[in-house]
Amino acid sequence: MTPNPWIENLPVYEPGRPIEEVARELGFNLDEIIKVASNENELGPSPKAVAAMTAAAREMHRYPDGGCFYLKTKLAARLGTGAGNLAFGAGSNELIEFLGHIFLSPQTNMVVSDGSFAVYRLVAALFNSRAIVAPMKNFGHDLDAMIAAITPETRLIVVCNPNNPTGTALAPDALDRFIEKVPPHVLAVFDEAYFEYPPDAMRADLLKHVRAGRENVLLLRTFSKIYGLAGLRIGYAIGHERIIAALNRVRQPFNVGAMSAAAAAAALDDDAHLADSSRVNFAGLRFFEKNLPQIAGGLEYVPSFANFILVKTGRGREVFNTLQKRKIIVRPMDGYKLPDWIRITIGTEAQNTAVLAALREVLA
Ligand SMILES: Cc1ncc(COP(=O)(O)O)c(C=O)c1O
Repeated sequence: MTPNPWIENLPVYEPGRPIEEVARELGFNLDEIIKVASNENELGPSPKAVAAMTAAAREMHRYPDGGCFYLKTKLAARLGTGAGNLAFGAGSNELIEFLGHIFLSPQTNMVVSDGSFAVYRLVAALFNSRAIVAPMKNFGHDLDAMIAAITPETRLIVVCNPNNPTGTALAPDALDRFIEKVPPHVLAVFDEAYFEYPPDAMRADLLKHVRAGRENVLLLRTFSKIYGLAGLRIGYAIGHERIIAALNRVRQPFNVGAMSAAAAAAALDDDAHLADSSRVNFAGLRFFEKNLPQIAGGLEYVPSFANFILVKTGRGREVFNTLQKRKIIVRPMDGYKLPDWIRITIGTEAQNTAVLAALREVLA
């Protein structure tokens, strides 16, 4: 029995630690723990989504509609695209893997940025392909360096905007210019997991490229972040019909559960939940930006356009461990070659206050 040799050494993604695991390990009650490690929405899901899940629960003996017809029709109407421009995955992570199935092999490569979401590189490794890593600039993507890194073998170039884990966002007109420079043999993938968070002026409308029929632009979005449905695993791709058809060919027939599709469709109707989530997040970001410079001799942070903030505490892994003993789970960043930094998800006002107080004590 011999697994494919590149699988033996495949690096494994280190997710935010689950509340249950930390509670078990350190003997805490579940409800004492504040988890601000995975960029989840601390307001929870929309009540409309919860009601849709409850209703869908009675039909769970049925396989789902693999094409997510109802959700797709609704989303297409909202986005102003055709239904043929949308494909769904068990989280946007699954769609990233599907792109690997379609485009990656030992003969091809993908271009990514240093200091960006780790899953892209892991997917390249999964297909025994190669990730060409362009350097970061000011904690964000250096779009020119990424274009310069493209080779004839490149099939994907991935831009995460806003970027996880740094929270930076690229100016919309810079992204439009970037798209013009991506050659036709390369698919420009924009991971927009945090699309809903930036203020309007910084929210790039890349949908117009898809609506204009551009073949080599694909957007990835998710219901895991502002919609508060991470546990359901549902995300979507918006792109040219040809790429969407390929995504639909490589997916398993029932890759998205019926409860997930029903909840996602209901969540789309809850503008109030979206507005609340956005408002609470914006206030939380301003709270950290105001207070971080006031503690531990002035903590450096990267201004963020997402629902998390990267903070330079020094010895990030140690700070993570110490905070965990105080029932707070953050994310150490040594895996991203940022050993002096931690990433904190923006929570509710009470959570943010508790996290800042703990940080102040731990770093005193
Ligand atoms: C940039 C980015 N892309 C994709 C994902 C994966 O999200 P999903 O839950 O939709 O798989 C995340 C989750 O943290 C993310 O930060």
